[in-house]
Amino acid sequence: MAVYASFRSIGAYAPEKILSNSDLEKMVDTTDEWIVKRTGIKERRIADKHISTSDMGAMAARAAIERSGLSKEDIDLVVCATVTPDYFNMPSTACIISDKIGISNVQAFDISAACSGFVYGLSIAKAFVESGMKKNVLVIGAEKFSSIVDYTDRSTCILFGDGAGAAVISATTDKSEAFIDIHASADGSYADFLVTPAPGSVHPANQKMLDEKLNFVQMKGNETFKLAVKTLTKDVVDILEHNNIESSQIKYFIPHQANYRIIKAVGDALGMREDQVVLTVQKYGNTSAASIPMAINDIFESGRLKEGELMLLDTFGGGLTWASALIPFAGKVK
Ligand code: ACO
Repeated sequence: MAVYASFRSIGAYAPEKILSNSDLEKMVDTTDEWIVKRTGIKERRIADKHISTSDMGAMAARAAIERSGLSKEDIDLVVCATVTPDYFNMPSTACIISDKIGISNVQAFDISAACSGFVYGLSIAKAFVESGMKKNVLVIGAEKFSSIVDYTDRSTCILFGDGAGAAVISATTDKSEAFIDIHASADGSYADFLVTPAPGSVHPANQKMLDEKLNFVQMKGNETFKLAVKTLTKDVVDILEHNNIESSQIKYFIPHQANYRIIKAVGDALGMREDQVVLTVQKYGNTSAASIPMAINDIFESGRLKEGELMLLDTFGGGLTWASALIPFAGKVK
């Protein structure tokens, strides 16, 4: 009998501390009006000093496992998408999260695909489950983006926030619960659009690298913006056409939450109604790999997302990477 991957549960964690636009007005030369007009962001969450990416990932993961109705012993693969890992080289954040939530002797690894990381993670889970290698995969997107943001650079510090989301992807033989499709792609020729130059093999850690602030995220914002709108629109049109699905059949369009203007442009190009488009950018900013699972969690916790409803995910980020997915929500509602 054929085995399919299903989206069994969602969980998330958002730090309590809020960094508002008026807070940023006191830190850099910016205004609430500029930020809201150009990005739609009003505030973002910032993790305390002692909270790491794995702490947030573990909290999201616990919620996802609990809501899946499974026990942690049922999880047989842990994948964490992050570009702000606890440690830049090793151990992986997935290993640390596994330990924190009490999962041992299970394959665990990180993936680096920036904002596309969670959907990339879903594609990995799908492949493992549908090949029969694994039964219940924990996919986490977790970021302490504030750890790589220069809070004197107004072009980036207004955009990003911290948080985590997680999902349990399980094997099913019920085709109605199955992932419909995932497209994931990349183009490394645009690598310099979004980059944290150091530390790494190109710029190993040293005083010079710190003096030059190479440890902070750098972005060609306007170029990235234009490419994001073009790529995201094409990607979604392709996945819908490929699966003979009309945008009106989508219950929730859940795009990466980087900028309201990007979301609006893509939503309008697809003819999405306002009630179909999920928005959290105003309250969380851009949380990179955590953005999509945090948005799914938002509609789950507010009671909007119901079992069987079709989600269209769409994301774009450093690499450059992009991905989209058509997935029915197969979780039980509280
Ligand atoms: N406050 C006030 N003025 C500002 C600010 C600020 N915070 N930041 C920039 N400006 C100024 C610039 O200096 C510039 O001034 P100038 O015209 O005098 O030179 C002017 O505003 C316009 O700057 P642009 O960069 O052209 O502004 P734009 O409209 O493109 O908005 C933004 C910038 C918000 C960054 C936008 O380009 C964007 O959202 N880009 C895409 C981000 C994205 O999707 N990233 C991918 C995912 S992220 C990931 O993978 C981790």
